[in-house]
Amino acid sequence: MTAPAKADRAPPATIVIFGAMGDLARRLLAPAIVNLCRDGLVDRATTILGIGHGDGDDAALREALSEHVEDDACWREVRERISYLKGDFTDPAVFEALKARIEGAAVFYLATAPNFFGTIAERLGATGLLDEGDGFRRIVVEKPFGTDLPSAEQLDATLLAQAAESQIFRIDHFLGKETVQNIIVARFGNALVEATWNCRYVDHVQITAAETVTVGTRGKFYDATGALRDMVPNHLFQLLAMIGMEPPHTFEAEAIRNEKARLIAAICPPAPEDVVRGRYAAGRIGEEDVHAYRDEADVDADGDTETYVAMKLTVATRRWAGVPFYLRTGKAMRARDTEIVVQFKDPPMEVFRGSAIDRLPPNRLVIQIQPDEGISFSMAAKVPGPVVAVQPVTLDFHYRDHFELGKRTGYETLLYDVLIGDQTLYQRADQIEAAWAAVQPVLEAWGRGEGVVEDYPAGSDGPAAADALLARDGRKWHRIG
Ligand code: BG6
Repeated sequence: MTAPAKADRAPPATIVIFGAMGDLARRLLAPAIVNLCRDGLVDRATTILGIGHGDGDDAALREALSEHVEDDACWREVRERISYLKGDFTDPAVFEALKARIEGAAVFYLATAPNFFGTIAERLGATGLLDEGDGFRRIVVEKPFGTDLPSAEQLDATLLAQAAESQIFRIDHFLGKETVQNIIVARFGNALVEATWNCRYVDHVQITAAETVTVGTRGKFYDATGALRDMVPNHLFQLLAMIGMEPPHTFEAEAIRNEKARLIAAICPPAPEDVVRGRYAAGRIGEEDVHAYRDEADVDADGDTETYVAMKLTVATRRWAGVPFYLRTGKAMRARDTEIVVQFKDPPMEVFRGSAIDRLPPNRLVIQIQPDEGISFSMAAKVPGPVVAVQPVTLDFHYRDHFELGKRTGYETLLYDVLIGDQTLYQRADQIEAAWAAVQPVLEAWGRGEGVVEDYPAGSDGPAAADALLARDGRKWHRIG
C-alpha cells in the first residue's frame, strides 16, 4: 500500500492492455494512468500498447481512451505514448508481433472477457514474453477469477505454469478503494479499536454492498454469474479478511497476504438455512420505474439467477469464536451503500441498577466504504436534564472533511503498485481458492436445484427472508443508506 505524498516515481514500462477498446480500459484504466501521471508517479518513458479484436489504429485508440479523461497537458502527453495493435487474443502471430514491439519492463493487463485469461497467459509464456531477462514482466488478471473452486484452481494452475506468483497480480478492485485500505490503519493504528476487536466484545459484524443499479446491459454475463459469484468470494470476503485478520508482523505485502489468506481459510461454509437468495421484481428506485430482472435483456426469464444474496457465516479463529458475520449484497436496492458494521456487546447494566434505564444502546462502529466515505461510532450519552436518560449519539469522521479526495477511479493505487511490484492489494492464489472453497457447498446445493429465490421489489431493502435471517438471532440489519 502506498502513500502518494511520499511515493517515488514508478520505473518505466510498457503497459499492454488486452481489450484496450473495452469499457474497463476507457472508464477506469486510462483515467487512472493519467491521474498517476498528474501526480508525477509514472515515468515519462512509460507507454501504453492496446490490443483489441476490432479494426482501428493508434488514433482510434487514443480517441476511445480520451472519453473519460480531462483534456489537459497530462492527457496530451500520455496520448502521444498510446499505440494500437489489432489482433485476435488467441492468435500466436499477435504475440510474435507484440514481442517485436516490447523491450524492457512490461505489464500485461488482461481487461478481456474471462474466457481469454488462460489462453493469453499461455501465449505470453510460449512467446517468451513473461521471461524477466531485460526487465520485469507482470500480468494483471481481472475479475471474475473462475466461476467456482475447480475453475479457479484450473486458472491458477495455467497462470503458475507460465509465471511465478510474484509476477501475477489478481485484481479485486475493492482493494483500490481508500476506505478499504484504511481498515488496516483504523484497526492496527488505534489502540482502542484493536483492544476490543474480538469475540469478548464484538456481538456481530455486518458487511453490506447494496447497489441501486440493475444489471442493465450486462444481462448475459450476470445471468450466468449471479450475486453470490459476482460479489461474495471476492469483494465481500476481501472486506471480511481486512476486518478479521490477525495483525501482520510487518507492513510488507507477504505478511499482510499471509494473514488475509489465513482468515479466508478459516471462513466456515454457511449452512443452507443461513443463505438467502433474492431477485428483483418490478419496482421503483427513486423517481425511476424499474422492470423485473426476468424482463431484462439477455436474461433467461425462467432461470433462477439471484440478484441478491445474504448469508450468516462464522470464522473459525480464536478471535472470532462464536461471532456471526452477516453478509448481504444486491442490485436494484433502495440505496447505494457499502459498509461494515461492527456491533459491540451490550454493556453490563449493574451500574444503572435502580435507575430509570433498563437498556443501554450498544456501541456500534460503522465503516462507510461508499458513498460518503468515513467512520462513525455510536455511543451512549446522557440526555441533559435532571432525569437520568440515555440516548445513542454518533461520533462521525467523514473523509471529505479532512482530505482532498479528488476525482479518482480507484485504480490508481492498484496500477501504481503493479508498476512498483507491490502485491499487498492483490490476491494470492491461496486466498482466491480458499474463498471459492467457502462458497462451493452453496454453489453445489444451488446446482442441485436447492435454494429458493425470493422476489423483492426493486427499490426495496431486499427479500423478507434476509430480515428473518437476523431476526432469528434477535438482531436487525443496519439501515441501508
Ligand atoms: C463488480 C461487479 O466487480 O463490482 C459489479 O461485477 C458490481 O456487478 C461492482 O456492480 C461494484 O463495484 P463498485 O466499485 O461500484 O462498488
